[in-house]
Amino acid sequence: MSEENSIVSFDKVMLHYGEGAPVLKNVSISLYKKSFYFLTGASGAGKTTLLRLLYMGIKPSSGQLKIFGKDVAEISRQELFEIRQKIGVVFQDFNILNHLTVMENVALPLKVAGELKKQRENQAKEILDWVGLGGCFNAYPDVLSGGQKQRVAIARAVIIRPEILLADEPTGNVDEQIANKLMNLFYGMHKMGTCVIVATHYRQFVDTFRYNELKIENGRIIADRSILDPKGEF
Ligand SMILES: Nc1ncnc2c1ncn2[C@@H]1O[C@H](COP(=O)(O)OP(=O)(O)OP(=O)(O)O)[C@@H](O)[C@H]1O
Ligand SMILES: [Mg+2]
Repeated sequence: MSEENSIVSFDKVMLHYGEGAPVLKNVSISLYKKSFYFLTGASGAGKTTLLRLLYMGIKPSSGQLKIFGKDVAEISRQELFEIRQKIGVVFQDFNILNHLTVMENVALPLKVAGELKKQRENQAKEILDWVGLGGCFNAYPDVLSGGQKQRVAIARAVIIRPEILLADEPTGNVDEQIANKLMNLFYGMHKMGTCVIVATHYRQFVDTFRYNELKIENGRIIADRSILDPKGEF
């Protein structure tokens, strides 16, 4: 894979919280456009930390991290805003706002981007149909099941048609049937050209779908051979 297809590059990245021991040690790895990665590792290994680095919630303690070619240590607030417009995130705890309807939650990134109300609503409707929640447009999140909330979070992450989609344990709170459905949504995004990174404990997916695996162990990332040729089919 050539450098021009690289969308994220880590060069000797170290990350520690405060005075604590490093969570990530000397990570040097590139991630590529239109690829699909599973991010694995034991609880506490650093999966959420790595995703936080990727959406620039935290910065490396040392080393260099480039996203879309920009060094995150040097980006301006405006650049940060622009880069975030290209990254969709599904958080481990959903992060859904209970005082907003499903539609308003899903359309929020478009509001931030300055889109008009009518266009926001039309796009939210389209995405909610896609995730199978067309009937929940005006519902408030507290009446939804865990799996439905998860799909709201996914709809909100993909409504901006991100170039990178980060999902943290997206199948953690749902049964196998819903988990399969969610995986198919991620697969759909990947097929439409998004670089998808899914942190998961769900070994079955990793083994069945045989996509690239980034495994965090003792602060290092162990990538399998296919990372050099990121392809794979369900
Ligand atoms: N805000 C924080 N301040 C201090 N330490 C933190 C913070 N967030 C995470 N850690 C520590 O960093 C390490 C990695 O945590 P992280 O949440 O990235 O793991 P994880 O792989 O996502 O785990 P899980 O599978 O349980 O979600 C853990 O030792 C954790 O205690
Ligand atoms: Mg985590």
